[in-house]
Amino acid sequence: MCAAAVDPAADPTEPSGTSGAGGAFGARPELRDAPFLRACRGEPAEHVPVWFMRQAGRALPEYRRLRAGTAMLDSCRDPDMVTEITLQPIRRFRTDAAILFSDIVLPLVAIGVDIDIVAGVGPVVAEPIRDGAALARLRPLAGDDVPYVTEAVHTLVRELGPTPLIGFAGAPFTLASYLVEGGPSRTHARTKQLMYSAPQVWHELADRLADITIGYLRVQVDAGVSALQLFDSWAGALDEADYRRYVLPHSRRVLEAFAGDGVPRIHFGVNTGELLAVMAEAGADVVGVDWRVPLDEAAHRIGPGRAVQGNLDPTAVFAPRDVLAEKVHDVCSRGAKADGHVFNLGHGVLPETDPDVLAHIVELVHDF
Ligand code: CP3
Repeated sequence: MCAAAVDPAADPTEPSGTSGAGGAFGARPELRDAPFLRACRGEPAEHVPVWFMRQAGRALPEYRRLRAGTAMLDSCRDPDMVTEITLQPIRRFRTDAAILFSDIVLPLVAIGVDIDIVAGVGPVVAEPIRDGAALARLRPLAGDDVPYVTEAVHTLVRELGPTPLIGFAGAPFTLASYLVEGGPSRTHARTKQLMYSAPQVWHELADRLADITIGYLRVQVDAGVSALQLFDSWAGALDEADYRRYVLPHSRRVLEAFAGDGVPRIHFGVNTGELLAVMAEAGADVVGVDWRVPLDEAAHRIGPGRAVQGNLDPTAVFAPRDVLAEKVHDVCSRGAKADGHVFNLGHGVLPETDPDVLAHIVELVHDF
């Protein structure tokens, strides 16, 4: 069984790293045998663990009811709402991990950047950052910038018991894209223009974003999250050479900052099939894979010693049950060939998803 007993004093011989001091199993050694954490470390688990990116969100009626009348970023700054929304999918689906309800732009908002999350659009930046002078707006982040995150994580760790909590942040490239473009972009053309035409400004921008991201993840690790996911959602827009030159050093610095904390580090992007090997070089323990590359092939590209996470097509939820079951089985079979597999979708839950289908997927994965 997974670490059913939540007794902080379960094994006094195990190291504990309650203040980010670097215990071998993070701040909560009593969870070391949770299937999700075992799979992240490449160890056999009693069942294939599963969680869903965007498992808390618009697919859930209880989420829509709670969020009615509250702006997205306001809900992220209210510890009671963060706690409740994070717990909703755990109650419903019994997934093997919870993910803190927040957004990748939250740390930027917390240091004073004027960003709004517009429904159906995404993050919109009032004054885009396109030159060196604008960089002064990006100062490092400390714990007292996000007290509501610390409070929510403390409460969640108590409420979740044996279920690990995942903290997360946006990677420098994906955050930079929102800041430079001013909002969502299909081509990331202005971001690439900045990289190519003013590489020193680009690297300083990415460097400051790496500092902010490290600060934001440090707050979450110190508060007690059991794993981290670094979202570089839009890195797939780059070819390997540009990724290596403009992105890899900054993402690697973020991931390496948590090498001694004992919390598995997951690194994910969409459309990154051609980048899986170079993204693995950034140093995560688990590489997230979208649905375009089969997991056995992805594991081959990533190389030994790292687990994979993924990768059911998020639209598979709209397939008939027999087709869905076949797809889930295929993902699990291919994932079994990797050095550790955490089942997930290849990207976030689509808002039109029927929550009962997600519950069914959890059963299928656990029965595999
Ligand atoms: O996974 C979870 O359940 C945790 C919650 C979570 C949110 N955003 C909540 C959210 C996570 C992990 C994120 C990360 C995030 N935010 C990413 C990386 C993950 C990915 O999808 O690639 C990105 C690129 C963003 C930026 C962002 N914020 C987008 C593209 C959107 C969607 C805009 C829309 O309305 O379609 C948001 C808003 C957002 N973040 C919502 C949620 C639940 C929807 C807003 C709402 O419910 O009102």
